[in-house]
Amino acid sequence: MSSTSFLSTAMGGTSLKDLRPSPDHRREFRPRSVGLKIRASVDDGKPEPDLSVRVNGLQMPNPFVIGSGPPGTNYTVMKRAFDEGWGGVIAKTVSLDASKVVNVTPRYARLRAGSNGSAKGQIIGWQNIELISDRPLETMLKEFKQLKEEYPDRILIGSIMEEYNKAAWQELIERVEETGVDALEINFSCPHGMPERKMGAAVGQDCALLEEVCGWINEKATVPVWAKMTPNITDITQVSSSPARVALKSGCEGIAAINTIMSVMGIDLNTLRPEPCVEGYSTPGGYSSKAVHPIALAKVMQIAQMMKSEFSGNDLSLSGIGGVETGGDAAEFILLGANTVQVCTGVMMHGYGVVKKLCAELQDFMRKHNFSSIEDFRGASLPYFTTHTDLVQRQQEAIRQRKAIKKGLQSDKDWTGDGFVKETESMVSN
Ligand SMILES: Cc1cc2nc3c(=O)[nH]c(=O)nc-3n(C[C@H](O)[C@H](O)[C@H](O)COP(=O)(O)O)c2cc1C
Repeated sequence: MSSTSFLSTAMGGTSLKDLRPSPDHRREFRPRSVGLKIRASVDDGKPEPDLSVRVNGLQMPNPFVIGSGPPGTNYTVMKRAFDEGWGGVIAKTVSLDASKVVNVTPRYARLRAGSNGSAKGQIIGWQNIELISDRPLETMLKEFKQLKEEYPDRILIGSIMEEYNKAAWQELIERVEETGVDALEINFSCPHGMPERKMGAAVGQDCALLEEVCGWINEKATVPVWAKMTPNITDITQVSSSPARVALKSGCEGIAAINTIMSVMGIDLNTLRPEPCVEGYSTPGGYSSKAVHPIALAKVMQIAQMMKSEFSGNDLSLSGIGGVETGGDAAEFILLGANTVQVCTGVMMHGYGVVKKLCAELQDFMRKHNFSSIEDFRGASLPYFTTHTDLVQRQQEAIRQRKAIKKGLQSDKDWTGDGFVKETESMVSN
């Protein structure tokens, strides 16, 4: 058993989950199996590292999932994702009334490495002020249904968001579930536009609201529910009422982190106007891509530690998101305890085919360490995080031991033939 099987043991404590059907019961509604496996060829005779994962009863050929956003906006692109071999697809967030969602253009701005304003530097940061899906719900639902009919064994996850209204949330859940989606991801985390309507991060940042809304959702949902967290809070786990903890206590089966980070991409030094500039004005947006990866790793690490210490029990899951462009980026999330890894901006920059590179690079990493499955290394780096006070103590102890060695041999039995002169020197005082 791997050091990280903590996310698949029984959850302690009482929660709303205890009062309603278990995740296993939920799964009875829809049997799932996926046979597709991505396997690169090898010539050393060893079996290929197995990338397949099973999360909340959902079987995926690999841990790579399209993150909610432009890469999951319609039938054509989601079909493309399945055809290219993505482990799962999370559709663009939908709500009941898309007519309230009005997007602007330009809505993206990019940060490049290198000198200020360099047009050639590598893209390291991406800001968007895009809202949730502006396509009619009926159209999106029709497309979810078609996808599930054509790809019954592939994992399609509906992403949903609603206003502070129990009936609206429950109607949306019912309608999205009717299409046959395998799970729901709840967007408690969009940092721009939607909070003005008390949606998205406005709920994810308020634990009392979050608990109430998660209660409505989990009372209704019959498929696994992932709560997608915003990083735009003071502390994602440490305070007693942290959003990730509240979501799990309120019956969610999984946590996805992170959504974008509230940002102002920059100011045009010629016009003095902020970017992206819409009719001379802008609004803070959501930051993603490579630059957010270290922040996402920190949030995922904190959530994984919290899940390990407080929820090591049920079949709960963790999905790492933020700045993934390589198999190594994904391996880092998994080493911290993530079961799946989502990619959004990376697909916008490199296309759907990037999944093949991600799988090959992750398998290279696994081969190097002789890991044969994702569970072999999931969470393996988590025990190496500690407090700064503990680091100080460890360092003081290491220095003490090094000094003790310098002082010379501990006992006459330690003299060696080869090191005799050095050993003598080590005990001379001047
Ligand atoms: C243009 C754009 C639109 C997005 N739209 C959504 C959305 O509708 N729902 C959602 O939950 N997250 C949305 N996201 C957030 C991503 O799913 C993801 O959490 C975030 O971008 C960090 O991952 P990345 O660096 O791989 O993009 C969007 C991100 C971008 C860049």
